[in-house]
Amino acid sequence: MKILTICPSLRKDSLNRKLLKLASTMSSVNGAKVEHVELKDFEMPLYSQDIEEKAIPANALALKQKMDEAEAIIISSPEYNFSVPGVLKNAVDWVSRTKPQPFRGKQILLMSASPSMVGGNRGLWSLRVSLEALGAHVYPDMFSLSLAHEAFNEKDELKDQKLNKDLEKLVSSFIVYVK
Ligand SMILES: Cc1cc2nc3c(=O)[nH]c(=O)nc-3n(C[C@H](O)[C@H](O)[C@H](O)COP(=O)(O)O)c2cc1C
Repeated sequence: MKILTICPSLRKDSLNRKLLKLASTMSSVNGAKVEHVELKDFEMPLYSQDIEEKAIPANALALKQKMDEAEAIIISSPEYNFSVPGVLKNAVDWVSRTKPQPFRGKQILLMSASPSMVGGNRGLWSLRVSLEALGAHVYPDMFSLSLAHEAFNEKDELKDQKLNKDLEKLVSSFIVYVK
């Protein structure tokens, strides 16, 4: 099984990227082949129907291609102002205009990391609404890492063993669900 991991954060020291790397390793342990992409490598103009009428940007088509090649997707997204970061929403909007629309029927696991106590969970609820509207099968359970700026050790592992076990359990049950 192939899983695509998507990091929407453009930040060099992104906490979400660290969390995603853990989920990626756990997916490999469960037998999945993982491909990782950074949204910063798929820069797109702000969505405009005028641009779309000329041509869908090459990077939107390239991202769609990556999605098509995977059975499942894991996204770990920052929460911006209680919602989805503009960069990610813009990418979803562009990709949603490609045909066949690649979110339809795609299995997706959502995660977030934030220095706050809520761990960015509210942003995931906004993201879930758009993805489900596009026909994605968003896994019911999500993982939000609170106080994420203090959560990792120097090897970028979770300091809290129970949280690590929770994440392992989530990733393995997601893979069983995708199968
Ligand atoms: C514009 C902006 C809005 C933010 N809004 C929230 C928020 O609503 N909730 C939250 O928990 N953190 C918020 N943050 C803080 C981010 O969670 C924090 O910067 C986090 O490290 C971003 O994820 P990253 O490390 O993967 O880039 C916001 C940060 C920015 C720049």
